[in-house]
Amino acid sequence: MTASYPALRLRRTRASAWSRRLHAETVLTPADLIWPLFVTEGQGVEEPIASLPGVSRWSLDGIVARAREAADLGIPCLALFPNTPSHLRSDDGREALNPDNLMCRAIGAIKDAVPEIGVLTDVALDPYTTHGHDGLVDDAGYVVNDSTADALVQQALTQARAGSDVIAPSDMMDGRIGMIRNALEAEGFANVQIMAYAAKYASAFYGPFRDAVNTRGLLKGDKKTYQMDHANAEEALREVALDLAEGADSVMVKPGLPYLDIIRRVKEEFRVPTFAYQVSGEYAMIETAVAAGAADRDAMVLETLMAFKRAGCSGVLTYHAAHAARLLNA
Ligand code: PBG
Repeated sequence: MTASYPALRLRRTRASAWSRRLHAETVLTPADLIWPLFVTEGQGVEEPIASLPGVSRWSLDGIVARAREAADLGIPCLALFPNTPSHLRSDDGREALNPDNLMCRAIGAIKDAVPEIGVLTDVALDPYTTHGHDGLVDDAGYVVNDSTADALVQQALTQARAGSDVIAPSDMMDGRIGMIRNALEAEGFANVQIMAYAAKYASAFYGPFRDAVNTRGLLKGDKKTYQMDHANAEEALREVALDLAEGADSVMVKPGLPYLDIIRRVKEEFRVPTFAYQVSGEYAMIETAVAAGAADRDAMVLETLMAFKRAGCSGVLTYHAAHAARLLNA
């Protein structure tokens, strides 16, 4: 039995800053952050993304500078997304398999210049296709599972050969984690990790990302035949169970804040490293609220990131990573 008021006053330990620090149940550090970056062709290029205020696409030199910055801030890992030039996009997204594509060159440049930082690479065809879907599309417009999974295996191997540390399939095809894991083992990449976008929902929160990789205007229809229905939670547990059984090292829930319940259930059920992606629309909501004078950026960034940790996350992909790390290091 615990005491009750007035012997027990829960405000007592909140009365001073030192005591609040001492009693904090959850910690957030720069080591909890993964910083997504958008890569574009050229030299000395920075292209601001209007719907993601404060986020730019960078050419390779800028990407390397961001990698240096991240390492200096204590951020352990970057996530890379390419803005493929439109003349290299095709129906089948074959540029994804080009060992000299933008993504592979970015991996190599980072690994040469900042070898101590982790590089996570997205596996899905959408930045490379002319229809903006994550896979191969049949005549009826349906994204075909098995031939897509074959292509994703080749894409994952291409990235691993270029030096990727973490393969992150974001496509939601069935069976691809096991296929990628087998291929990595067969090719000698035993230590390349797989972070599965295990529970990825068909979401209205991806709009600014699609601007960043220039797929918004291309996308035909929606992604509801492969990404999850936001009505479902039990199904997320099945997705996670499958990806773990197939060889994922860690799992991701995406989007983040509207799906904290899923994060919590995944963590409690499986006790595995669980990550959240605080996606582009979430970032944009915070920045829009700040621009409107409705919110304090620093407080909101730290509160939302702490919420992921409290829910059970090992870490968070966030466009606020560098800003948050600066706040945490101050
Ligand atoms: C595509 C992919 C998407 C995101 C990451 N990988 C968009 C989509 O599924 O359409 C979204 C990330 C964000 O919104 O920040 N495979």
